[in-house]
Amino acid sequence: MQLRACWKLSNVVGFAVLGMLIQSINPTQGTDELTSLLDKLHMLKVNRQLMENLNEYVNRLHQKLDTLRRLALELEGPLLRVEDPESEVLSNPLLSYSLVRQMHFDWPHVEKLMEQSVGLEQIDFAKQMRSELPRLQDVMEATAAMNRVQQVYQLEPADVANGLLDEVQLNAKLSISDCYEMGANLFEASQFSDAASWLIVARELWDQSLTAAEELLTVSRSNISSLLARSEMAAGHLELARAALLEEPSLRAQAEQLLLAYRNHEAAPSEDHPYIEDTDDDFIELCDSSYTPRPTRLVCSYKTNPSKFLHLAPFKMELLSEDPYMVVFHDVLYDEEIESLRRMSEPSLSRSLIVEEDGTETVFKVRTANDVFLDSDELSPKDAQLVKRIYQRLRDLTELRLGHASFEYLKYDFGGHYTFHHDYLNDTDHSSDDRVATFLIYLNDVTRGGATVFSDIKLAVHPEKGKVLHWYNMNPSSFDFETRSYHGACPVLIGRKIALARWIHEQDQMFVKPCLQPPLSRKSRG
Ligand SMILES: *[C@@H]1O[C@H](CO)[C@@H](O)[C@H](O)[C@H]1NC(C)=O
Ligand SMILES: *[C@@H]1O[C@H](CO)[C@@H](O)[C@H](O)[C@H]1NC(C)=O
Repeated sequence: MQLRACWKLSNVVGFAVLGMLIQSINPTQGTDELTSLLDKLHMLKVNRQLMENLNEYVNRLHQKLDTLRRLALELEGPLLRVEDPESEVLSNPLLSYSLVRQMHFDWPHVEKLMEQSVGLEQIDFAKQMRSELPRLQDVMEATAAMNRVQQVYQLEPADVANGLLDEVQLNAKLSISDCYEMGANLFEASQFSDAASWLIVARELWDQSLTAAEELLTVSRSNISSLLARSEMAAGHLELARAALLEEPSLRAQAEQLLLAYRNHEAAPSEDHPYIEDTDDDFIELCDSSYTPRPTRLVCSYKTNPSKFLHLAPFKMELLSEDPYMVVFHDVLYDEEIESLRRMSEPSLSRSLIVEEDGTETVFKVRTANDVFLDSDELSPKDAQLVKRIYQRLRDLTELRLGHASFEYLKYDFGGHYTFHHDYLNDTDHSSDDRVATFLIYLNDVTRGGATVFSDIKLAVHPEKGKVLHWYNMNPSSFDFETRSYHGACPVLIGRKIALARWIHEQDQMFVKPCLQPPLSRKSRG
């Protein structure tokens, strides 16, 4: 708990800096390796090709085997048919002729056949495909995602391994190696207790396993037990560590030496693992599917002001919070519009990046999503028209000026999340053009997870197709920062989440009359 609290504190400080740096970059289409690798359909395709290649290789080996086996029978034949080969060879001229001929011609032929390499093409293909295989980094990201949902939604590793995720039963299970890998990665990330709970599951699966496929695995039961003991040791559970070793026949005898060795090589807690992060307690509380957002439906009404359009087609508005002002509008986008948005965005999605101070672009663990910018100036006339139309609708929902028509299209897959942050930048470079307000448009329903949560006001907003969430990051009249807009995106548990985001900038408000809607009190800046 203390560790978590510490992390949170440093994270708050971190975000003040990070906030300035977070700027998504326009993706370079199709060149982002990570995205293409994480694209599950591409992975499936590669996997299928490799499978076909392996089958073809097996076929070729079979063909060679068949040929050699038939040849062996053929060569053995004449001698098999006689009772006493030694005396026959001496007395039977036909047999001895055959033998001379066969030994001179056939054995060298056989030797050549034996020597012939088969499946070289298939081996080459497998080598070529190596560059298409997920990298260690991808495995670690996947591990981090699995760990994130397990932690945030407080799932038991044994349930996850059995495909039971928050009461939804999936048609898949994790293997012994999968669970071992979770344990090994969490051990690397110094999450020792969590590592131990996955290794215990790996060992249980091992014991239940009836197949003789063990030789295929790269891990043995003693691998699992020794890492389990090291994890328990590092977590401060000496007795559990000892029990893990004593339970393993091959390690039992050396249990005490091993314990001593583990103690001396206690893993130094890694300060900052590149992928695996500590879990925020606010996420655990607010992301829970049974968490009731507070307050619920303060006011529901039809929004008709101020535009003429809304008089004709009012939106269902729900006031989530009066102070700070926060609203959702329902059914703002039509299904066909969402389909078009997907069509124009999905092919160019790439991993959301963050610009570091030195200008390098990095994939960062605070935000695991793919995105693409939809700028009406860069789209085809038809797509630009759609973006402008949706844009006009947002304009009708708010008194704020929106500026140029563009959106960020976002896609979160399993475990995809965004840790708590403010949308305002509070950055000297942006001092006169910070983000006054945010629009978040949900483009689909998410089966489990993916809520937008506000930790200061204990609010959870669940994604729903066509719903628009709108809040202020700054008081629109005083331009004071609204610190209570601190928010994050819960990891997606089942399904995927797609959304449009749009920040409203300070500069665009320059000529707006100060009769802005939220009745916020003035607060001193900073
Ligand atoms: C499992 O244990 C064997 C023997 O100690 C070792 O050689 C091997 O590297 C281990 N495998 C893993 C995945 O740790
Ligand atoms: C904005 O930045 C200033 C200077 O770094 C800092 O003193 C202030 O606390 C920040 N305000 C907020 C709301 O984070």
